[in-house]
Amino acid sequence: MGNIDIKSTTVGVVGLGLMGSSIVISLLASGHRVVALAPIPGEKERAAGHIADLLRHADSAGILQYGIAPCVNRMKLVEDYRQLAPCRVVLECVMEDKAIKKSVYDQIAASVVDETIIASNTSAIPISELQVLVPHPQRFLGMHWAEPAYMTRFLEVTCGKQTDPRIADYIMQLGIEWGKEPTLLKKDIRGFITNRLMYAVFREALCLAEAGHITLSDSDKAFRYDMGSWVTLMGIFRRMDFMGTTDYIKGFGQLFAMLSNSTEVPVLMQQIVEQRGRGVHNMNGLYEYTQEEAKTWDRAFARFNRDIYELAEKYPEQG
Ligand SMILES: NC(=O)c1ccc[n+]([C@@H]2O[C@H](COP(=O)([O-])OP(=O)(O)OC[C@H]3O[C@@H](n4cnc5c(N)ncnc54)[C@H](O)[C@@H]3O)[C@@H](O)[C@H]2O)c1
Repeated sequence: MGNIDIKSTTVGVVGLGLMGSSIVISLLASGHRVVALAPIPGEKERAAGHIADLLRHADSAGILQYGIAPCVNRMKLVEDYRQLAPCRVVLECVMEDKAIKKSVYDQIAASVVDETIIASNTSAIPISELQVLVPHPQRFLGMHWAEPAYMTRFLEVTCGKQTDPRIADYIMQLGIEWGKEPTLLKKDIRGFITNRLMYAVFREALCLAEAGHITLSDSDKAFRYDMGSWVTLMGIFRRMDFMGTTDYIKGFGQLFAMLSNSTEVPVLMQQIVEQRGRGVHNMNGLYEYTQEEAKTWDRAFARFNRDIYELAEKYPEQG
């Protein structure tokens, strides 16, 4: 695949919604030339303002080594797919709809050279199902980012059935250059890694709440102040080694049989969806919010992202 040369690798981002815009900032901060493509009418103007706001935020957080101006110079904001021609990696970030993604891949493939790697940021569509939609499936894979992309270290790289492992290795190396701690999922399993882990936790907590044993707020408190006090440092398995594995073995024996294995959507979640609850976005969710409280959470999350990004840097993987 050749060595990584950030400056000479132009990356395309197609779809400039929440995640696409944020990924553009991460790539610019890493030194790439970026072609940012707005695929729907009117998005280019909206995205220009949004990307400018994000650049200011990234700059105030100290993420842009040389400030905003060189980033702006390295970015081309376009609507025409033909402008993707110089890109050797193109990240698709459009809405979670296979038919829309297919029409986007057709236009990307018609505009780039055969060697170009195409990656999807899909959260849930299996990569093996998406890669059959492109002319060179061996050069297609999943690249799942977390929001805000320029201030999180998470990057989940997923191979589909036909992905060439050398392409995945190259993308893993690129991820490291971007300041990520990438994980590689060699087999395309539903939910990838983090969603599978998190949904196991959601099911158990919602099951306990529905049975009246706990409140959601107590579950959040337990998660924040127990797991939250060590997880960014050591993950879950290093934590086991650290605490001594014997107690965990007892726990497996006693608890596994008691944990929920329900396959139903939890009633609490069904109710929220029926009430059209979108959480802090419309002040109706698993908690209640005033407009001011929703804004306070938004601001706190932005501050926290910055703090946790720095904290993770202080305590790198190798300890
Ligand atoms: N939101 C998250 O936190 C998050 C996290 C990880 C992955 N993802 C994934 O990233 C992708 C984008 O999610 P998002 O949250 O940025 O969504 P979004 O709704 O903010 O943006 C979706 C984008 O899709 C594009 N789009 C919409 N209709 C289109 C059409 N008809 N043709 C072509 N393009 C069209 C537009 O550029 C639009 O901005 C999805 O696959 C999603 O699953 C999202």
